[in-house]
Amino acid sequence: MCECCNGKKDIYLPELCTITKRRMLNGTELFVHLEKDGGGDFDYIPGQFVEVSVAGIGEAPISISSSPTQKGMELVIRNVGALTKVIHGMEVGDKLGIRGPYGSTYPIESAKGKDLVFVCGGIGLVPQRSFIRYALDHRADYGDITVLIGTKCHDMRLFREELAMWDERKDMTVMETIDEGHDCWNGNVGVVTTLIPKVESHLPHSQILVCGPPIMYKFVLMALAEAEVPDDNIFVNLERRMKCGVGKCGHCQINELYVCQDGPVFRYSDLASVPEAI
Ligand SMILES: Cc1cc2nc3c(=O)[nH]c(=O)nc-3n(C[C@H](O)[C@H](O)[C@H](O)COP(=O)(O)OP(=O)(O)OC[C@H]3O[C@@H](n4cnc5c(N)ncnc54)[C@H](O)[C@@H]3O)c2cc1C
Ligand code: FES
Repeated sequence: MCECCNGKKDIYLPELCTITKRRMLNGTELFVHLEKDGGGDFDYIPGQFVEVSVAGIGEAPISISSSPTQKGMELVIRNVGALTKVIHGMEVGDKLGIRGPYGSTYPIESAKGKDLVFVCGGIGLVPQRSFIRYALDHRADYGDITVLIGTKCHDMRLFREELAMWDERKDMTVMETIDEGHDCWNGNVGVVTTLIPKVESHLPHSQILVCGPPIMYKFVLMALAEAEVPDDNIFVNLERRMKCGVGKCGHCQINELYVCQDGPVFRYSDLASVPEAI
């Protein structure tokens, strides 16, 4: 038993995990599958994130991309800085520290029996995939599942084989668009909001889950308002600079909200008094 914390788990102590699979999804995004060194399953709910660390280098919050219905944990890591560069150089068998899971979750219980529409921009597909996979693994619990995906360019598309498999399924609808046309692409061209009119009749009675780059929210939320979707039915996944991940340091604070604890998933109507949030 730890004496300094009276036997409570140290919230800053990472657990060692081993990379059991790795592959590049595109030029900048690395997919890793992790298993705990101590054995046992990861305990989390779609929407949550973990703090990922490499000893002597640093730590960063990373969304969980897998579903708790599967074994191990999957993350997608963009190579942007000191820590993520080191992780990109790692191989199967190398170790990462994992703290968490932290943060709020997608409405996996209250959304039961309802239609789900996921609006994903770029790397925003990563956390959304956790709930999509969870809903597919509990298919009878949810109504129609629609996934709208917008990516900047063809070469940046994520999870291509998995999207092709989702596209084959009769029990979900997947629509993709890329911002800029490409010789190998005969699908929709334009930003993700160009897909919204195609599903407009679905929207007012669906739960809408939105995740993407900050610029996307403004336009998606405008389109949803035009489609008369109640703010209560919209969930947004916000990203802010974080340090502790557990509501202690204030790095992620927006007025009275701590994005690491109150978010990253927020019901849009709960942000009405915090216009700075979006
Ligand atoms: C809830 C949450 C979930 C996330 N999920 C993912 C995910 O699934 N995958 C993923 O790849 N990333 C994710 N991120 C982002 C990731 O945590 C950051 O990109 C992290 O900073 C990477 O760490 P690093 O040490 O590699 O890069 P850093 O050294 O932190 O640099 C990252 C970039 O940010 C800039 N930067 C550094 N510090 C600051 C600062 N104080 N102010 C402004 N800019 C700064 C740097 O110049 C660089 O461009 C998530 C963030 C949050 C909050
Ligand atoms: S990251 Fe420290 S309070 Fe949110």
